[in-house]
Amino acid sequence: MKKPKHKKEFTKSEPVKADPINRRDFFNKSWKWLGIIAAVEVTGMFTGFMFSGKSKNNSNPKQLLEAGPVDSFALSSVSAFMGGRFYLARQQDGGFIALSLRCTHLGCSITWEETHKRFICPCHSSAFDISGKVLNPPAARALDYYPVMIENGIVKVDIGILMERNTFRKDQLQYA
Ligand code: FES
Repeated sequence: MKKPKHKKEFTKSEPVKADPINRRDFFNKSWKWLGIIAAVEVTGMFTGFMFSGKSKNNSNPKQLLEAGPVDSFALSSVSAFMGGRFYLARQQDGGFIALSLRCTHLGCSITWEETHKRFICPCHSSAFDISGKVLNPPAARALDYYPVMIENGIVKVDIGILMERNTFRKDQLQYA
């Protein structure tokens, strides 16, 4: 007698066993991937270093922060811009400098003392004058600063570039 076409025959088969993991293959592949990831990271670091612009001071492309019109800053005055993490100091001769608020000793935040016309660090009492020059150790270097630009009478500070220095020089000031 003929069997109906659509009926399947089921046969008993052996259960399928998963291949056991070959540990040597697993470790070989892991090492290969770790090697590739490390190579990519090293390449990224190298190209970042090579094309980052000016020496080690650079971190980002221009990040201009508008501080305000030139005339709104009196001679020999200091204005705090805590969001930008700098003090904009206008010197007696009209020059501007944007001083980092990080002490160059161990990085505490400095504060401006109007009565003594100086920056003071609360951690170990380093003091700096209005241009950022060291008045009192243990800090050995002048305060770091950000480049200032003056465009159409507006003072702008590039907070993407922190400039390191040992001491104050007049060419670090920006004039209107
Ligand atoms: S961190 Fe400023 S004096 Fe030490």
